[in-house]
Amino acid sequence: RTAAGTPRPRAHFTACDTWFNDPNGLLFHDGVYHLFFQNNPHGSTWGNMSWGHATSTDLVEWAEQPVAIPCTEDELVFSGSAVVDHHNTAGFAGDGETALVAIYTSVATDGPALQTQSLAYSLDAGATWTRYAANPVLDIGSAEFRDPKVFWHGGEDGHWVMLVVEATEHLVAVYTSPDLKDWTRASDFGPAHAVGGVWECPDLFPLRVEGTDETRWVLIVSLNPGGIAGGSGTQYFVGDFDGERFTAERLTDSTDPADYDWLDFGRDYYAAVSFSNVPDGRRLMIGWASNWDYANETPTAPWRSAMSLVREIGLTRTRGDRHVLRQLPVLPDDAVRLTLGGAADAVAQHDDGTAVLVFDASAPLSAGSVTTFVLDAADGPAGEDLRIVVDADAGTFSCDRTRSAAEVFHADFASVDTAPIPDASKAAGSLELRIVVDACVVEVYAAGGVATFTELVFPYAPYTRLRRLA
Ligand code: FRU
Repeated sequence: RTAAGTPRPRAHFTACDTWFNDPNGLLFHDGVYHLFFQNNPHGSTWGNMSWGHATSTDLVEWAEQPVAIPCTEDELVFSGSAVVDHHNTAGFAGDGETALVAIYTSVATDGPALQTQSLAYSLDAGATWTRYAANPVLDIGSAEFRDPKVFWHGGEDGHWVMLVVEATEHLVAVYTSPDLKDWTRASDFGPAHAVGGVWECPDLFPLRVEGTDETRWVLIVSLNPGGIAGGSGTQYFVGDFDGERFTAERLTDSTDPADYDWLDFGRDYYAAVSFSNVPDGRRLMIGWASNWDYANETPTAPWRSAMSLVREIGLTRTRGDRHVLRQLPVLPDDAVRLTLGGAADAVAQHDDGTAVLVFDASAPLSAGSVTTFVLDAADGPAGEDLRIVVDADAGTFSCDRTRSAAEVFHADFASVDTAPIPDASKAAGSLELRIVVDACVVEVYAAGGVATFTELVFPYAPYTRLRRLA
């Protein structure tokens, strides 16, 4: 069997037989979660960019739907967001109707490939979409102006807010509007922290600080390349937002990426954005589980790319009074849970390679301790594995997937990625790991989700066991 026969993940969304990249327009409406995505409806590599569509009622089982917003001869449909226009501010809804409005980047297919922001709306709960006749609604004459994320700010007398990047300027621009059509620039954020590539796919949302009644706002900025693990990566900033301007509470002049805040320390978590209109104040995100370094060449066919699991996001205050995100995955009910014992040569194993496996393990952080976990296939070729090494003295833990692909499909795939051990784990004397394995995607949630790794793997046989090396 070649690696192109890579089994499809079960709980990570994949398209039936086409390419996708970023999640777009994540939205909850009338009991249904909508996942739109950057899709090539006609192929397994990037191109013909359109909004594909999938729906779910439980965030785990996704049903692919017909393409929602197809490209045309004149326009590619790049990333963006979607909102429920509860007050019919844009006037798209008739009596008794509710409009869902998508705000996306139009890319002109001729001339200088201008990027402008456009609208499409749905009056049938997301099934079919109509382009607004007066598109675009925002045009600054730039070819690097994209990925609008829109949300409502304030109560009845509030306004719409759009975040959109000037990608090569490392700027997140904030616009406001009463009606989704008429936009006024209110402020800019950036450049700040990592600027080793273009800024893309911004997001901004409030979160309550765990254990307090304080709120902070979190700004998400993807960048490519220049991510902490190489290639595509996603950073975040914590601060305040007054409806027009975001102010970060911690900005450092350091040029060391380890001093910035990263949403994920692995190679495969990009363009992550959150759902709008989710009940009960829950903040749910999905990222694209790939990396522009090699995304077009991953050995799967005819589908290419997976989304991450849906992650529920929280905000926690550290002992050093910093605010850091906590991310926890939404797992399928039938995931198989396995706990690795503490013995030096412990093994946790499940022989059904089609199940979603959730391994819990713990590494001591006493002086001098180095713990190596090996994830592999009980019946696979020896030496093919993913390793997690926890080094107490260095204060770091790493994911090593240099031996996790059955064939070398791209020179940049192999890597060893490193994250700092969170302070709370150091204080507790151990690092708790939850490792979710679903065919070609491995997600590691450390210290209750305060540090995560998302890593693709393409082994000859699916990983089924976790071992602690003696
Ligand atoms: C991010 C991105 C976005 C753009 C889209 C095009 O991965 O480059 O900036 O809108 O992909 O597919």
